[in-house]
Amino acid sequence: MSNDDNPYIKAYEREKRARLEAERQLEDSSRIIYKKNQALEDSYEKLKSQQALMLKQEKLATLGTLSAGVAHEINNPLAFVASNVSTLQSYLQLYQHVQTLLETHYPRETMVPALRSYLEANDFEYINEDAEELLEDTLEGLKRVANIVQSLKNFAYDQPAKRQSADINEGIESTLKLLKLPLEHIEVEKHLAPLPNIDCNPSELNQVILNLLTNAADALDGRSQPKISIKTYLNGSEILITISDNGCGMPESVVSNIFVPFFTTKDVGKGTGMGMSISYGIVESHGGSIEVISEEDKGSEFTIRLPVT
Ligand SMILES: Nc1ncnc2c1ncn2[C@@H]1O[C@H](COP(=O)(O)OP(=O)(O)OP(=O)(O)O)[C@@H](O)[C@H]1O
Ligand SMILES: [Mg+2]
Repeated sequence: MSNDDNPYIKAYEREKRARLEAERQLEDSSRIIYKKNQALEDSYEKLKSQQALMLKQEKLATLGTLSAGVAHEINNPLAFVASNVSTLQSYLQLYQHVQTLLETHYPRETMVPALRSYLEANDFEYINEDAEELLEDTLEGLKRVANIVQSLKNFAYDQPAKRQSADINEGIESTLKLLKLPLEHIEVEKHLAPLPNIDCNPSELNQVILNLLTNAADALDGRSQPKISIKTYLNGSEILITISDNGCGMPESVVSNIFVPFFTTKDVGKGTGMGMSISYGIVESHGGSIEVISEEDKGSEFTIRLPVT
């Protein structure tokens, strides 16, 4: 009896074929499951980062509403306090004039004793000088408050101001000229690819570039071989601007708060913490986005995306 006719061998071959087929199917299924699993993991990661971004944007939107409210509430009292102080300044001048006339036309010896002793008991020369200074300081303080209120409004607005067709690269070049002195000891590398003009508010966008460059210069203070790179390029229907530095970088706790109004790590008087939040507001109002990646002690990179309209 040949092997072909042997029913045991035939059964064995059949069983072997079936086993191999089952193994192949199992392998295929495992591969499919593995791929699906990986796709799921990727989607999960994407979802997680999108959720974090959404939470961040929501937080900033809430802060925007809050800022607009606070700015509005402060604006009214601020306006009348400033106007009252200016009026007080002109009243003071009138009183001072009366005093000069009095002292010129009525020498102290001829004054009624009550007035004379009152004038002698109070140092009116000093009071006059000090009153002028106090009012000037007050007006200066009010100006600062007005600036902060304006910054809050800038952060909060979602209505873009006047638009015009402009070249982003030109804005960068002119901002760099403005910053010649602060960037004096820093190597500035530029790769500005030709870009189409976009509908924008150029002075607002220049302010964003200025804020980013000033921060980069601050981060490079005292670092060796300080360098800032500025790149612009067109990517599909978006203009990308990246500004990176090899400065001190930021820990995650700073990165996650960078766009929050008044968040600063700088000393009092050095930073108000409004630069990045205003920039965020400006870029958003242009329908764009601003992102940052940073590594402590290595540097930071900011990317702005603006739609080509
Ligand atoms: N390029 C950078 N490198 C390192 N840290 C940065 C950089 N840009 C911003 N930061 C950090 O983010 C914080 C917030 O920046 P933002 O520009 O809003 O405020 P500021 O620079 O502190 O003050 P302001 O811009 O109002 O004068 C900074 O205090 C700093 O800690
Ligand atoms: Mg700043």
